[in-house]
Amino acid sequence: MDGNGRWAKRRHLPRLMGHQAGADALDRTMHWCKEAGIRYLTVYAFSTENWKRSSDEVSGLMKLLSHFIKSKEKELVDNGVAFRVIGRREDLSPRLQKEIAALEEKTKGGDFTLVVALSYGGRDEIVRAAKNFNAEAQRRREHGESVEDEAVFSSCLDTAGIPDPDLIVRTSGELRLSNFLLWQAAYAEFYFSDVLWPDFDKQEFDKALASFSRRERRMGGRKGEGEG
Ligand code: FPP
Repeated sequence: MDGNGRWAKRRHLPRLMGHQAGADALDRTMHWCKEAGIRYLTVYAFSTENWKRSSDEVSGLMKLLSHFIKSKEKELVDNGVAFRVIGRREDLSPRLQKEIAALEEKTKGGDFTLVVALSYGGRDEIVRAAKNFNAEAQRRREHGESVEDEAVFSSCLDTAGIPDPDLIVRTSGELRLSNFLLWQAAYAEFYFSDVLWPDFDKQEFDKALASFSRRERRMGGRKGEGEG
């Protein structure tokens, strides 16, 4: 959700107001995803690097997240939205961790999943998964179960059970992956937009989906290098 800070700066507003506008843009985007039949939306809300921002900005972002969690519960439940967090949740305050766990529990079973990456870094996730993978592979061998490495490794990631993304949208003119879903992005399509995240509107959303559909048609719907 890139560009919140620049959006605020252009309006001579504090950065946090940019993040608030970013949270509103997330609300709208979730709605368009559901309408379009998309089943999973993953947003990069706070990276492992973001802890280095000013303490005011970090605590403001944490408050925004906590507010989102508390104020959205009914709406998410009523609309069948499952809430899930990936990342180093143990870095978050015990209170926020509790709020997250409670919302995950209350919303599980929803047919649309909002995945929020918090204190998340792709490399960090892979290192943590590698530690789990060793133990899991060992356990499977002992039980005579097959160890199909990639599938087992995927199940050790924070995103276990969540399909790999088909499309990754990056806003605000950045042309990098910046440690987002490194393993999961192996076959994803990318859509880069100059629009700042708080200005991400239905027109830009439709453009992202249209560009994805064009590429899917060109590829004949094939997924993965091994297949095409
Ligand atoms: C990147 O823009 C955005 C963030 C680091 C924070 C995103 C968080 C939210 C939108 C808060 C709400 C989230 C949820 C799940 C309710 P930036 O600050 O790097 O912007 P810049 O590149 O213009 O400085």
